[in-house]
Amino acid sequence: MLILGIESSCDETAASVVKDRREILSSVISTQIEEHKKYGGVVPEIASRRHCENILGVVRQALDEAQVTLADLDGIAVTYAPGLIGALLVGVSFAKALAMSAEKPLIPVHHIAGHIATNYLTFPDLEPPYLCLVASGGHSHIIEVLSYTKFRVIGRTRDDAAGECFDKCARAMGFPYPGGVHVDNAAQSGDPAAFKLPHPTVAGNEFDFSFSGLKTAVINLLHNAEQKGLDINKNDLSASLQHTISEILTSKTIAAAESLGYKKVALAGGVSANSGVRAALSAACKQRGFEFYMPEKKLCGDNGAMIACQGSYNFLAGITADESLNAIATLSMEDI
Ligand code: KG4
Ligand code: ZN
Repeated sequence: MLILGIESSCDETAASVVKDRREILSSVISTQIEEHKKYGGVVPEIASRRHCENILGVVRQALDEAQVTLADLDGIAVTYAPGLIGALLVGVSFAKALAMSAEKPLIPVHHIAGHIATNYLTFPDLEPPYLCLVASGGHSHIIEVLSYTKFRVIGRTRDDAAGECFDKCARAMGFPYPGGVHVDNAAQSGDPAAFKLPHPTVAGNEFDFSFSGLKTAVINLLHNAEQKGLDINKNDLSASLQHTISEILTSKTIAAAESLGYKKVALAGGVSANSGVRAALSAACKQRGFEFYMPEKKLCGDNGAMIACQGSYNFLAGITADESLNAIATLSMEDI
């Protein structure tokens, strides 16, 4: 089975061909980071325009590198939700036209389900059910992966996502966009105990997250220091921030696993590239004898292979779309 996956939900135009659900034959990613960097964040209209310019070349390259033609494909999968609406519309319209002209099934994929699938690409034997923490620039979810295509959201962020917290604090420290990776690098030579940062308390669902208080605490700390003419050690602040985010994500995920009886835990999403989060969740799982899975680093960020992989499972489950498929900016995983 050969599935082409197309991803355009944010600032990466990506396409990939995946064989038999888990074998990546090609994965092409055209990133717009350099352009959005000038503005300190993603500018939606610029993102849509770049997707429009790049998508045909990216898809063509993915087919060429996989040494397959459109006729060889069993289906065309595309991210249709959630994400920037103008960006999603480019991928959806393109995939729809391609599927209709090549007379191939069109397969809709939820972006977060795609992130979860990165662990199938990394671990050939991983099967549901298990619990997955998905932390990215737009989402922080604890998800019960009931089957390849059925999900239950156990916890979600009430405000900012973990990646957003990394990026906004990084910006306040003067790091370029997207700042998460710069915080990670600076944290390597910092002291995680240098700054005591707040752990949020969230009323109601104990597995929900909140990162806006932590973000505000870091920004205030920097402003106060600036006003007093004090120098803040950015390596120490990065290490403290990374340590705090890692602890929050890990403690809630472990509590959810214990409460629901899962002994199999996975990590996914852009923030799964973070060395502190990887180490903390891995150690906590090891300590309890849980199986732990996390994607190889090159699959953590947005890519087409995750869409092709999840698209393969959707296709096998009979999840396809007709020519009325539309992009959706906000869509819970439970509504797919
Ligand atoms: O999944 P992703 O590529 O896009 C979304 O679906 O949002 O995630 C991007 C997020 C950004 O916030 C980025 O700063 C963060 O993942 N990120 C990291 C690291 N690498 C990427 N955050 C912390 N440490 C990293 N090493
Ligand atoms: Zn993503």
